[in-house]
Parts: sequence; structure tokens; C-alpha cells
Amino acid sequence: MADEHDTIDALLDEQRTFPPTAAFKEQALVADTSLYDEARRDDEGFWARQAADLVTWHSDWHTICEWELPFSKWFVGGTLNVSENCLDRHVAAGRGETVAFHWEGEPGDTRTITYADLLTEVQQFANVLKGLGVGKGDRVNIYLPMIPEAAVAMLACARIGAPHSVVFGGFSAQSLTDRINDAEAKVLITADGGYRRGEVFPLKPAADEAIADCPTIEHVVVVRRGGNDVDMVAGRDHWYHELMDGASADCPAEPMDSEQLLFLLYTSGTTGKPKGIMHTSGGYLTHVAYTHKYVFDLQPDDVYWCTADVGWITGHSYIVYGPLANGATQVMYEGVPNYPDNDRFWAIIEKYGVTKFYTAPTAIRTFMKWGAKEPAKHDLSSLKVLGTVGEPINPEAWIWYHTNIGGGRCPIVDTWWQTETGGMMISPLPGCTTTKPGSATFPLPGVSAEVVDDEARPVLHGGGYLTLTRPWPGMLRGIWGDPQRYQDTYWSRFEGRYFAGDGCKLDDDGYLWLLGRVDDVMNVSGHRISTAEVESALVSHPSVAEAAVVGANDDTTGQAIIAYVTLRGGLDASIDDLRTHVAHEIGAIAKPKTIYFTPDLPKTRSGKIMRRLLRDVAEGRNLGDTTTLADASVVNELQRRAAEVPTED
Ligand code: WTA
Repeated sequence: MADEHDTIDALLDEQRTFPPTAAFKEQALVADTSLYDEARRDDEGFWARQAADLVTWHSDWHTICEWELPFSKWFVGGTLNVSENCLDRHVAAGRGETVAFHWEGEPGDTRTITYADLLTEVQQFANVLKGLGVGKGDRVNIYLPMIPEAAVAMLACARIGAPHSVVFGGFSAQSLTDRINDAEAKVLITADGGYRRGEVFPLKPAADEAIADCPTIEHVVVVRRGGNDVDMVAGRDHWYHELMDGASADCPAEPMDSEQLLFLLYTSGTTGKPKGIMHTSGGYLTHVAYTHKYVFDLQPDDVYWCTADVGWITGHSYIVYGPLANGATQVMYEGVPNYPDNDRFWAIIEKYGVTKFYTAPTAIRTFMKWGAKEPAKHDLSSLKVLGTVGEPINPEAWIWYHTNIGGGRCPIVDTWWQTETGGMMISPLPGCTTTKPGSATFPLPGVSAEVVDDEARPVLHGGGYLTLTRPWPGMLRGIWGDPQRYQDTYWSRFEGRYFAGDGCKLDDDGYLWLLGRVDDVMNVSGHRISTAEVESALVSHPSVAEAAVVGANDDTTGQAIIAYVTLRGGLDASIDDLRTHVAHEIGAIAKPKTIYFTPDLPKTRSGKIMRRLLRDVAEGRNLGDTTTLADASVVNELQRRAAEVPTED
């Protein structure tokens, strides 16, 4: 495979193993292989048991899984209401006063929201949405900071069967426009602004710019958070608090079909156009509740904290739906880890007595840079399980996390999954799996994964492509408006198998080592960005003739975006101009770290840009065979420039 890189080789030299301690096993929900054994005997029966145990149904399903490759339906015929599962049933069971969210604003303001509070607010907001003409099946866009209203909005949509489409607040107006138009959303829920690094970042102006080109938006609901000035368009824009003031807190949960569309979430593919990944209700909820419970070994007194943003799938599955379905108590934090100081996360863990903590390898590598003295300022002894997600974790970061955050006593669950899988797929179970730093270990009970070679032959040892061989309840149901792309992207590379787009190695003990993407998708700080998206943003600048983008290894962010740009004759643009332009087109997360200007891009004689070679240049590697190049002097020139160009961190 072309995409193996040095960190991976280091990963595979890792020999240390970490069995669960006797003390952990003693209190664990699962301390043996019983779940694996049960699922191996009958995986559909296993999932059905989870659905019956963890989810409350209005009416029973008649078929566990209908599988017409590549389309699956789960718990067919069953009805449920997802928001009722996340709220009403906990209140009805006498747990209304249990805290759902300890919310911590970046400036230090806090809110404590119980399940009873959340149920009231969700019912009110569901009525608000109805009042704005939102009905079952209508799409609602959400563009919010990390404030409780984000969860309220999602659950209110779920309550009335209106699929939501959350767009990460860091995406630009243009990205929001594209996603709203693709989903044909009727209502947009946003905020004046939110706090980030001690300042208010405005959202409403970006929303205004976005919806100027969105003919389907009829109403905009604006949450007041930043206190910044905003323009409100009469008749179209409404303050959240004003609408909520008069709203009834009685909105009974209506039973929905198990396959009712719960949400769309846009993610980058290998083309410039993001895909609207479709997730439905019964199977998805079962999958996220099950994985949240067993992977985090959820206990009644847990305080769980996932540091993701609700704009990503991790926020959907492991802040909103999984934990709330399980009635968990969570921390939700609005801001960045280094405001006001580099120890903010550790201060929050100490303050709330967090027991289960879920974050990204990029964050861990950043904490390593800030030093072990930061966590050492705080009492982290409440922690019991640590999780990671979003990218491969290098053994060094794993060990640092284990030692400095987990005090050497907390199992680490390295969870591999994707927007498309809905929930975790490959991960240890903390009370039963012996972990190896850098390996996500084994498929979870109920999940079937196989590594295959180019010809789809199963690989029993060594490297290949990760595939999934059986349908699972949380799997995507398709790409919004584009069934052909669904088929082509995931199901055509290997017949009868779901192709994840990730490389993977199997070691002697059968452990899975995820190696990163093998397609033109970059993973920057755990965020998926396609090279084609950044390229098309660059060429939309009037001065740019041609652009090629590659992801190069980066010690902190996993990969960094490196762009090679050819300007149009006689026109000029600075590196800053182009970076700002990309931020405007996509969002700040997609800004190239480095831009090389070059009179030509290296191409094969048939005119294909040689990305492998560009990556080699970006990573400072010796170039191998360049004989297929149309013009080898281009490369020499690029290498010379690469040595000179400054990069931006
Ligand atoms: C990568 C995030 C290695 C992988 C939940 C996948 C990982 C992509 C891991 C999905 C992990 C996620 N180890 N790689 N534990 N978790 N990935 O859709 O390349 O934002 O395909 O979902 O992240 O990213 P997405």
C-alpha cells in the first residue's frame, strides 16, 4: 500500500500489553468473553437483545434485519421515539433530578441541567418548531456553538420526526449554504455567537451570508449566547428565548418508524462535494447506546465527558444520543483546552469528578507539548476509563495519556469508527481486553471486520484494507439524494463488503492496527477533509490556475494540509490571501498549513498530478523513480522551494 508511513512502522514495533487490572475487572460490566461468544453464535439475535434491553419501543419489530446489499433496515416494523428514549423514560423512572449536563461555558459560567429540565425544554422547543411550520420529514439545519441548546434542538427535531443536519460552527458561510441547499432545510437554528479562546466568535453574520443563497429557509431561530450585535430580519429571524417564553411544555412523543430518518450529517468524500450521510432511528440508537454503555463500562455514578463538538458524528453519537439514551450524567464544555490556561481540561475533570473521558489523539499530542506539569496540578483520581477517537494514536501519546492522565490505572479504549458507521466498531472492552498501545484491538461484539488485499482476499497477517462484512444497526442508510454514490463509494471496491477507506494491519495475535486513510481524504486533527475540496476552494480564487493538495504527516495534527499552487499568468496572490480564501470557502480547519507556489505541477505523461511525489516532497523524503514524469525539472524546483517556504502552525 502506498500510504503506510513511518509512525505506522513505529506502531508495529510496539510490544507492551496492558491487561485490565483485577480491581477494574471486579467492578466491570463485562469481565469475560461472554458478549463476544453470544454475538458469534448469532449476531442478529445479539443486536436484537441489545435493542430490547437498551431501547424502549412503542411497538415491536417483526424482522431484526432486512439486508438487501447494500441497503439494510433494522428492527423493521418497530416504532419508537428517540427523544422519549433519551428523556421521558428516565424522568418516568424517577430520575428527573439526575443531572444530564454539567455545562461549563468557556468564560467560566455554568449551567446544571437535569433530565427533567431537558425534557421540559425539548418539549417547548419541539412546539416552537411546529409553530414555525416544521413537520415530520422536514429538514432543520443547526449551526450552533457548544451550548446546551444544541442538544435541545437535536432532541426537539427527533421528537417530531424532523431530521436535523448539524453543521460544525467552524465551517464557513459557503459550506453552510451548500449543506442547507443539499438538504433543502426549512429552518436554521443558530446563535449570535459563542466563546472561543476568550473572545466571542460571531455565527449569525455567517448564517446571514449563507442563507442569502438558500431559498428553502423560511425561519431562523437565534440563541443569545455571545451577546454580540446581530441583524434580525423581521418575519424571518426569531430569538430563541422569545419563542420559548410562550411555548407549551407539553409535546407528547409520537412513535416513529424504526427507519425514520433521524439526521443527516455531511462529511468529506474523495470529491469536492460533501456527502449527506443518512442515519435512522431504532438501529442507530441501539448501536450508540450499546457501545456507549459497554465501551465506557458505564456505571450509575459515572460523570462522563466527551470533548468533541456536536457538529461531528462523535458529538451526535457520544454526547447526545448514546449517553442520553443511557441516562448518563455528562460534562459539556464550550471552549478550547487552553483558555484561560493550558490546564483547563484537567481543572474541569477535577471540578466535576469526571470518571470517563473521551478525546482525540491530536488533543493528547498537544497536551504532551504543554507538559505533564499541567495535569499534575489537578487531582485526576476520579478517572476510571480513558477513550480516544478520530485518528490513529501513536504509542508514545497512548503511554503519555495512560501515565499522566490515567495515573497508570485507567484502561484506554481506542475506538475506531466513522461518520458512516454511526457508532464504534473496533475497540477494546475495558474489563476484558488486553490492550496494546496504538491498536484499536478487535471488532466489538456484533461487528464483523476483515482486512483484505487488493484482490479482496482476506489477509490473516500483515497489511491491507479494512472492510466490514456484515450489516450493523448503526450503519448509514445511504447518501442523501445520491444512492449511486453510496453504492460506488462504499460497496464497489470489494464485492459484498463495506470498504471503509482505511488501511489496517493484523498482527500475530489478531490485533487490528488502523493505519489511516488510503483514499484522498486527509485527517487533520481528527477532522476529515478531502484534498479535492481544498483544491476546488483554491482554484475558485481568481488568481489560481491550478492546485494540488496533499496531506503530509504532522507530529501534532496527524496530517497537515499542504498545497501546491500555480498562479494564472500575470496575476498575483499571497500565501495569506489564499489561506484566507480557503477559510472563507470551507472554514478555518481547511486552511493549508503550507502553500508552495510553483510554475508547474508534476504530472505523468497522461496528465495526472503525481500526488505521491508531492507528498514525498512535503514530507522531505528522497524521491524515488521519477521517470514517469512529463517534466522532471518541475520536481527539482519544487524541492528547492520546499526547503525555503515557511509554514504556519
Ligand atoms: C479515522 C470519526 C484510527 C479513520 C468517528 C476513519 C481512526 C475516520 C480512529 C472517520 C481510530 C477514526 N484509529 N483511525 N481509533 N477513529 N479514525 O467520519 O480514518 O470523522 O475512516 O468519524 O477517522 O472519521 P469521521
